[in-house]
Amino acid sequence: MNVLLLGSGGREHALAWRIAQSPRLTKLFASPGNPGIAEHAEIVEIKDGDHRGTIDFCLKNSIELVVIGPEAPLVDGLADNLRTMGFAVFGPDKDAAQLEGSKGFTKDLCAEAGIPTARYARFTSAEAALPALKEFGLPVVIKADGLAAGKGVVIAETRQDAEAAIAGMFDGDFGKAGAEIVIEEFLSGEEASFFALVDGETVVPFGTAQDHKRVGEGDTGLNTGGMGAYSPAPILDEAMVDRVMREIVKPTVETLARRGTPYSGILFAGLMLTEAGPQLIEYNVRFGDPECQVLMMRLEDDLLALMAAIADGRLSEVPPPRFADDSVITVVMAAKGYPGTPEKGCRIDGIEAAQADGAKIFQAGTEEQDGALLASGGRVLNVTARGGTLRKARDTAYAALDKIDFADGFYRSDIGWRELERS
Ligand code: AMP
Ligand code: GLY
Repeated sequence: MNVLLLGSGGREHALAWRIAQSPRLTKLFASPGNPGIAEHAEIVEIKDGDHRGTIDFCLKNSIELVVIGPEAPLVDGLADNLRTMGFAVFGPDKDAAQLEGSKGFTKDLCAEAGIPTARYARFTSAEAALPALKEFGLPVVIKADGLAAGKGVVIAETRQDAEAAIAGMFDGDFGKAGAEIVIEEFLSGEEASFFALVDGETVVPFGTAQDHKRVGEGDTGLNTGGMGAYSPAPILDEAMVDRVMREIVKPTVETLARRGTPYSGILFAGLMLTEAGPQLIEYNVRFGDPECQVLMMRLEDDLLALMAAIADGRLSEVPPPRFADDSVITVVMAAKGYPGTPEKGCRIDGIEAAQADGAKIFQAGTEEQDGALLASGGRVLNVTARGGTLRKARDTAYAALDKIDFADGFYRSDIGWRELERS
């Protein structure tokens, strides 16, 4: 098969690495890619958001599957346009991608299908939203409805903070994403990530993970895209996975199918494990980043074969995906300044040495200039390792980190702490 992979992060490097291992692969192309992805794919230039250009590239290069890594092109309808032209795609159509594209859409779907989630209300103006605050306790959660690169959520501890967040969102703090908002009850518990493969009708579990969203040690400081992750998440044991499938994921997939907007691709459920049971916090319509990196290292099956089966609606015909019993951890090396404005251009050395003892370095915000590897984004490297226990995986990853020479880089030294404390 000829495959086109869209995206440029550590998530896409991990996907490229696994797709390249498939005996079914003829040639892998990637756009915009990065130097890590370039080890497995021919990098091609397709303008971001150019659906016509993507279709033309696929026609010219006999592409048989397009794998769309990030959410924005999915919410923008790229999968619909490719499918209309006859191409197989891994990723949902625009209507089903509303699960990530609109928080209110997902809350309404949960209400319709009886899926456990925080009590909520939707608003299109501050005048309507402000008086409704008294219906919620404190803390209260205020969310911009649309895509806001993971930044559109405010957990307000006081009424004043909640009012300021509402005013800010309607004043354009998150651009168009904040033209509508959701006010939500605050849920207490432990967060965990659950993944499922879906081909419209069939749904199969595809692993569990936990990530660390805050930039600082001990889960403090600003929110980020994720500073590290591990898989599996033992807190999502078999009984809990069954319950999440039954109460949350299957009713979602069934509701979308019944509406005539079936879901196809990977479905990523962000869960809160509360005293009353698992509740849905949010859906993502793509793999998590960095959760994808740890899942890909545990996956024991041919990723490309699974993706092709989903694109063809044949998921019920393939054996359920298998994952190694091992634990995998990934530690993000970010550039100074992240999650604000990161320092760019710092030279990175030592990747080979760091990989010598079994760790794998996925590249995210990197670029190559005159043979040197330079930092070019916020999250720069994902140092990933596997072990019989989480502690062994952790030790391998941190030993590898010591060998990386990246003066502007920083990382958290406590990735996995919650699970390590438990074990
Ligand atoms: P989201 O983008 O919806 O995943 O929200 C980002 C983060 O905000 C989540 O990972 C949670 O840590 C937190 N969060 C979102 N909604 C709630 C809620 N209803 N109760 C408690 N925490 C929440
Ligand atoms: N790491 C969280 C996400 O990808 O949304």
